[in-house]
Amino acid sequence: MPVLGLGTWRMGEDPGRRAAEVKAVREAIALGYRLIDTAEMYGEGGAETVVGQAVGEALRAGDVRREELFVVSKVYPHNASRRGTREACERSLKRLGLEAVDLYLLHWRGNHPLRDTVAAMQSLVADGRIGHWGVSNFDTDDMEALMHAMGDGPGCAANQVYLSLGERGPEFSLLPWQRERGMPLMAYSPIDQGALAADEGLGELAGRLGVTAAQLALAAVISRPGVAAIPKAVRGAHLKENLAAADLRLDAATLAELDRLHPPPRRKAPLAMI
Ligand SMILES: NC(=O)c1ccc[n+]([C@@H]2O[C@H](COP(=O)([O-])OP(=O)(O)OC[C@H]3O[C@@H](n4cnc5c(N)ncnc54)[C@H](OP(=O)(O)O)[C@@H]3O)[C@@H](O)[C@H]2O)c1
Repeated sequence: MPVLGLGTWRMGEDPGRRAAEVKAVREAIALGYRLIDTAEMYGEGGAETVVGQAVGEALRAGDVRREELFVVSKVYPHNASRRGTREACERSLKRLGLEAVDLYLLHWRGNHPLRDTVAAMQSLVADGRIGHWGVSNFDTDDMEALMHAMGDGPGCAANQVYLSLGERGPEFSLLPWQRERGMPLMAYSPIDQGALAADEGLGELAGRLGVTAAQLALAAVISRPGVAAIPKAVRGAHLKENLAAADLRLDAATLAELDRLHPPPRRKAPLAMI
């Protein structure tokens, strides 16, 4: 899984913005983005439709091959029964125009028993409709419960949670827990929905390094081993800037300065959600 991908929340909500969003996803692919994160929730299928159109155009134009892309989608918790998960996945695949998604996540923990969702996920893997399955917004205790709900068959491949310089809570116990098990953590809202791009202290440090505050925020998140980030952007300048952040290497002095500006957690706190 690439360490930097494209988020798509807020896409597909307004038909008037659709052409610009399709263009942005196509531009992202042309620039070299290979991971695209979406969900049935975003625009109630609208974001998947945008991604499907952009990916379809890019594949037909020969900009990219299907096997080079890593497409992630998510099932709503209220759909995550044994049968509902499979049906939701089929609807998502139709909107995406794909035979399979590479990773399919339970968007957050709901009321359906985890063992039912896991059984559905594993059967989707067996049928080749998804490459891997995982979860999102699962804290350490949810992950423990998930481990108990998992029988034989492919295990959970990733957990996607809110992690940024402004929200470092998962670094305390969730990230170490996942690292011990070799399970990647996907960081959502890694620029705090754009707010970190305007963070003064970060901007000052970034200026000294010759990068932008958003780039520094992204580089800080993906400098943690086992972490991938999925910033959302529609503007071309943002798309370029964010992808380039994957190549930044932060030295020990910069990491220490970032800890001073945005201190790491000292105790366990409940997982934050956006
Ligand atoms: N699993 C979950 O529950 C969950 C929850 C939230 C998000 N997510 C996923 O994570 C993705 C990212 O999170 P997010 O969309 O909440 O927030 P984000 O990626 O932290 O921030 C996106 C916002 O920042 C702006 N931006 C992007 N790059 C920038 C740059 N270089 N400089 C200045 N501003 C920049 C974007 O503007 P423009 O669009 O105008 O370029 C957009 O308004 C989502 O899109 C979604 O795929 C998952």
